[in-house]
Amino acid sequence: MKRKVTKAIFPVAGMGTRFLPATKSVPKEIMTLVDRPLIQYAIDEARAAGIKEFIFVTSRGKGALEDYFDHAPQLEQELRKKGKTELLDIVKSTNMESGAIAYIRQHKALGLGHAVWCARRLIADEPFAVILPDDVIAADKPCLQQMVEAYAETGGNMVAAMEVAPESTSAYGVLDVADDMGALVKVRGMVEKPPVDKAPSNLAVIGRYILSPDVLCNLNKIKSGAGGEIQLTDAIAAEIAQNRGVYGYRFRGQRFDCGSKSGFLQATVAFGLAREDLRDDLSKYLRDIVHMDQAAE
Ligand code: G1P
Repeated sequence: MKRKVTKAIFPVAGMGTRFLPATKSVPKEIMTLVDRPLIQYAIDEARAAGIKEFIFVTSRGKGALEDYFDHAPQLEQELRKKGKTELLDIVKSTNMESGAIAYIRQHKALGLGHAVWCARRLIADEPFAVILPDDVIAADKPCLQQMVEAYAETGGNMVAAMEVAPESTSAYGVLDVADDMGALVKVRGMVEKPPVDKAPSNLAVIGRYILSPDVLCNLNKIKSGAGGEIQLTDAIAAEIAQNRGVYGYRFRGQRFDCGSKSGFLQATVAFGLAREDLRDDLSKYLRDIVHMDQAAE
């Protein structure tokens, strides 16, 4: 039975050590691309896909995330009083309906699969989405919305997929493709972070998933996998073993790996250039430094 996907899990428990010292006191997900926190992009994408319930799997030190999604009546009043309606609209657009967000703590850092499993009681018996806010995807139609539309046809389980350089496969979940239908691929196996010479393809899993609640049962049973962690990839692969469908979906859009500094900077430039109020200044600056570089060569 295919059902509407209305719940999404956002695993945000990670310590963000790659962004130290900033992440000593700021959750990584609050770090901004231009002026919007990473997590806001994930929430906007989920909303566009029809998600109504937002489940955050957090950890100690993530209080700023909860504050961010709280309403800010004083700030709103101040902006209203000063007639700053544009800013007021921006602030209000981040408000979430009361009760739409739930926070669950992952008490031990046992991996992505474990983080998702922590939300099992809130998911109960429904298909659900998982969004990894580190993977930011710029697209005309938001990635999860593309997937929800494809999922309406396939049911089963679906992961976002993208071709990566063969030497990078060891950083990803990698798909073993049974049937390549273009945007959609039917999957016959999945491996988490395989050594490069063992990767079944160079089609990598990107952080968007639509999963059947059966995956949560699989998570009850699986043992720790790559890196000693409970892997979501393994719980999805277990679906295939039970003859349930797993599909990869080649989304249309550009993915930025905001879990890495270089990816984060690239996303900052791309999102800056996409903004009307910044485009001219920023592109002039970029042209100038490229010219300077070329002149120096
Ligand atoms: C996670 C998943 C991996 C996936 C990746 C996408 O890994 O475990 O399967 O390919 O996200 O970004 P992480 O990057 O958290 O190590």
